[in-house]
Amino acid sequence: MSINRQEYARRRQELMGIMGPNSIAILPAAPEHIRNRDVEYPYRPSSDFWYLTGFEEPEAVMVLMPGREHGEYVMFCRERDRTMEIWNGYRSGPEGVVNDFDADDAFPIGDIDEILPGLIEGRERVYYDLGMDAEFDRRLMGWVNSIRDRVRSGAQPPGEFVALAHHLHDMRLFKSAAEIKLMRKAASISAGAHVRAMQAVQPGMMEYQLEAEYIHEFMRHGSRSPAYPSIVGGGANGCILHYIDNRQKLKDGDLVLVDAGCELEMYASDITRTFPVNGKFSKPQQALYELVLASQYAAIEATHPDNHWNVPHEQVVNILTQGLLDLGLLKGDFNELVETEGYRRFFMHRTGHWLGLDVHDVGDYRVQDQWRQLEPGMALTVEPGLYVAPDDDTVDEQWRGIGIRIEDDVVVTKDGCEVLTHEVPKDVADIERVMKGS
Ligand code: GLY
Ligand code: MN
Ligand code: MN
Repeated sequence: MSINRQEYARRRQELMGIMGPNSIAILPAAPEHIRNRDVEYPYRPSSDFWYLTGFEEPEAVMVLMPGREHGEYVMFCRERDRTMEIWNGYRSGPEGVVNDFDADDAFPIGDIDEILPGLIEGRERVYYDLGMDAEFDRRLMGWVNSIRDRVRSGAQPPGEFVALAHHLHDMRLFKSAAEIKLMRKAASISAGAHVRAMQAVQPGMMEYQLEAEYIHEFMRHGSRSPAYPSIVGGGANGCILHYIDNRQKLKDGDLVLVDAGCELEMYASDITRTFPVNGKFSKPQQALYELVLASQYAAIEATHPDNHWNVPHEQVVNILTQGLLDLGLLKGDFNELVETEGYRRFFMHRTGHWLGLDVHDVGDYRVQDQWRQLEPGMALTVEPGLYVAPDDDTVDEQWRGIGIRIEDDVVVTKDGCEVLTHEVPKDVADIERVMKGS
């Protein structure tokens, strides 16, 4: 575990400090999912569960009870089972969860109906995220109702349900030194994969064959999975924002847009680069590319604790709108185009998102109706783009079907930000040099 046991314990303590006495937090592990018939998707714990426990087995429930004399941290988990372990692999069992994951107490998951109502009883507030897992919601209501049924014998049901996510997600938004170290490593692996792909790409290659370069590079360096399905779009496929089909041929003269990042010990990286399949940008490709790049540099410059969340996006909007006017793709008045979002035909997404255990990580973007101020320890992406639809006959033919995005991962520092993904080139001359292999 690169995030050490003390850090997991600190997170639980911090959360319990916020919850206060007389409360209980209940967090089930994510369910497993069937891919087809009896084949399951590889299991990935939910990020909230992982953040608080570091435990990656399914069929578990974490319970926190601040101030409880017999132990504040209780886990329900699968029991050891020789046959199941021969078929599917090692299980920690309750004893392992106590010894290796610092639970104060642990019980078999099969005993939860008997034990959990007794733990809930007498606690005023239940911290739980309703609506994430319908089956678990139903069971929890059953346990609470079983307490309500016994009020005449003196049972005390909880009076309040509170969203667990609210506080937990604010904690997750601020990355610790150990988390930033892991994210730096994930970013570095992904950067290496983009460099490798720039050197491997050839006209005639299939998009998924280029994707394979990434997967191999990620796994070679200790990542078990991409953080999200890789987007490898040649030519006009680069204009499809969530293109993951990746099964067309890469053509001489086209750009390829690759949005791919590895997950390392559950932490995501998220990089996009757009480069020419034959190693050399054409004039119109270069003009649009350099416009996106200028806006990205300005947005990174604006990622600073003096600014709120939306300032980098506003920079991008201004630079792209002016650039599109200069190149003749937009016509009209600058202020009006910004005001009416006239640029959205070519730039229809936001400039970034929080990044962490989830690629689109948790945390509020607005606080009390204001854009949130950037603060040291927040990690985010900076990813402007331009996408000219292949059938857009309002623009000159030379621009049609060009899709460009440039995406880096950054962490806010006290005097600006650190670009975690700096190892992969993005200036035109640098990309062309890397692609030539010199
Ligand atoms: N890869 C998803 C995103 O860039 O937001
Ligand atoms: Mn991305
Ligand atoms: Mn992104």
